[in-house]
Amino acid sequence: MSDKPIQNYEGVESWETIILLYNSALREIGTKLEILNDEFQHVHQYNPIEHIKSRIKTPESIVKKLRRRGYESTIENMVKYVNDIAGIRVICSFASDIYRIAEILANQSDINVLSIKDYIHQPKESGYKSYHMIVTVPIYLSDIMVDTKVEIQIRTVAMDFWASLEHKINYKFEGDAPEHIKRELFECAEMVSDLDAKMMSLNEELKSFAESQAPDKRQEEKHRIERALLKEHFYGEAE
Ligand code: GTP
Ligand code: MG
Repeated sequence: MSDKPIQNYEGVESWETIILLYNSALREIGTKLEILNDEFQHVHQYNPIEHIKSRIKTPESIVKKLRRRGYESTIENMVKYVNDIAGIRVICSFASDIYRIAEILANQSDINVLSIKDYIHQPKESGYKSYHMIVTVPIYLSDIMVDTKVEIQIRTVAMDFWASLEHKINYKFEGDAPEHIKRELFECAEMVSDLDAKMMSLNEELKSFAESQAPDKRQEEKHRIERALLKEHFYGEAE
């Protein structure tokens, strides 16, 4: 057990230290995800994660969020009320990967899940889909350990494509897009779900086909090794 005092940001007063903590937390979660992806590649020969994006919220938008919620702009309020100062977005190939990754992360002993919003099972009114988790991960500085918050958004490539266009449209219309655009976006969200479902079932089919071929593959590999050994035995040369 660590004998370092465990703190929840109390005593961490400088802006630089706070940002260092959030940056470190992003790196910790990013590394965990990369390790998972490498392991999947090694064991199952496929990558569940297409890519990862991370960002630290700008001071301007932290202040804006606090003001919108009626809080004073203090460091204490910021670490207490703004859960997405450190944000990481995980883009997966298939919808099934989302839950697998979320569950594996949540089961890691140093990760503490504070909240979950499953906008895949319950999409937002706009049609937005994504799986959100607010977690804390311990960050060890020289004399203290701080459980630091990270917002993790997990979604498929198709969900991400939709969300980035919807975000751009809402930004342009300052959140008040014309009704027909909102409707079409909603229809696109449904197409995204259909696409994700079709891609996932195609992938399932591909997997069962690959599994049915596996015994042949093993046989082929056995023959290849035997041939190489024979060749080496008779001709003294490796293949
Ligand atoms: P924010 O104050 O926006 O952070 O929302 P919140 O604290 O209520 O949390 P929520 O889980 O609803 O949203 C967190 C983040 O998800 C947002 O900052 C966006 O990045 C993303 N998000 C949520 N809703 C939408 C949406 O309708 N469209 C898009 N494009 N992104 C969304
Ligand atoms: Mg946000």
